[in-house]
Amino acid sequence: MHSQTILITGGLGQVGSYLTDRFCTDNRVIVLDNTSSPCRHDVPAGVQLVIGDIQGPEVVRLVEQADVVIHTAAQIDVNRSLDQPLFDCENNILGTLNLLEAARRTNLERFVYFSSAAIYGDTLHTPIEEDHPAQPLSPYGVSKLTGEQYALMYHRAFGLPVAVLRPFNIYSPRQDPSNPYSGVITKFIERAKAGQSPVIFGDGQQTRDFISVHDIVDLVELLVEKDEAIGRVFNAGTGTQTTVNRLAGIVQEVFGSDRALEYREARAGDIRHSVADISAAQGLGFVPQVFLEDGLVEFAGE
Ligand code: UD1
Repeated sequence: MHSQTILITGGLGQVGSYLTDRFCTDNRVIVLDNTSSPCRHDVPAGVQLVIGDIQGPEVVRLVEQADVVIHTAAQIDVNRSLDQPLFDCENNILGTLNLLEAARRTNLERFVYFSSAAIYGDTLHTPIEEDHPAQPLSPYGVSKLTGEQYALMYHRAFGLPVAVLRPFNIYSPRQDPSNPYSGVITKFIERAKAGQSPVIFGDGQQTRDFISVHDIVDLVELLVEKDEAIGRVFNAGTGTQTTVNRLAGIVQEVFGSDRALEYREARAGDIRHSVADISAAQGLGFVPQVFLEDGLVEFAGE
């Protein structure tokens, strides 16, 4: 890959920070972040940090300098989107549109848009392929889907080289444990570190496709490199489903605990089964590398 200038929106966040670390070794990286939910406050040496909002006018100047835009910045809290749908809409839809407008008349080589598996809503079948009906259950899901639609339209109408990814359940040690809406892995690990057993909502037989942030970064690299990715949508998962019970067992193993698991009432609106069909990503050469067991060991060292 030749050296490029890469603008990473949300570059201080859970995913953006790992993208920054990977891309900055061979490229010039500019991070744009409004510090609303940073998982770190600094960037590696040589990376330019711009504190600002994706809705601001400065994105024009930043996008003009870039060869590649990787857009991860978003309001990511599903519950907050239910409480404040307008805030979610402004951030995620208008913010994305502002970036796309800035990109419209440039010679960008790639615009990578981070969507979410939340766009699918209740699943009719698994594995979930990209053509599965999109029936989001939250304003967040609608805003992510709308962002996708705008991005793909900018490809069709204006030739912008857009690629979209729909991450399933991403985990990384940088997810903020103090956030009540953090994912189940972060919750289980926090409890394990405090000497407590995992709390399982429902019977624990529900499944998810847990993907390490390192695999997400690998897939983004492919979306940037491969021209076949342009104008297309890719599920970002491992294709492997894991029950919440099994996850709890692995966490207990990693932290050497044999306490009894705690079961509580199922969460209202919880999706029963979720696993990605990743044949589209595999077609680009994507091979998930991180087994859940190994991915969780990284947390024990934090
Ligand atoms: C995930 C996304 C969400 C998205 C949704 C649909 C995360 C953090 N959330 O929600 O943004 O809208 O997919 O694609 O990635 N659980 C427990 N104990 C706990 C916490 C959770 O048993 O302490 C269970 C939940 O009831 C659920 C499963 O673990 O069945 C996963 O929960 P969670 O990590 O919150 O993610 P999703 O509900 O899949």
